[in-house]
Amino acid sequence: MYVCLCFPTTERQIRQAVLNGARRLRDIRPVATQCGKCGRCAHALLKQASKAL
Ligand code: FES
Repeated sequence: MYVCLCFPTTERQIRQAVLNGARRLRDIRPVATQCGKCGRCAHALLKQASKAL
């Protein structure tokens, strides 16, 4: 499922980024840097995926 539409990014891509060390929104830029509507969801996904490590 797409999390960010402005910069097409899927949930799977964000989970993979966490496996590669991403922990903050800035680590997955440009996600959430245009309209910002995906910010809350992307942040929650980052936290959830980080906890699962
Ligand atoms: Fe992610 Fe717009 S949907 S910045």
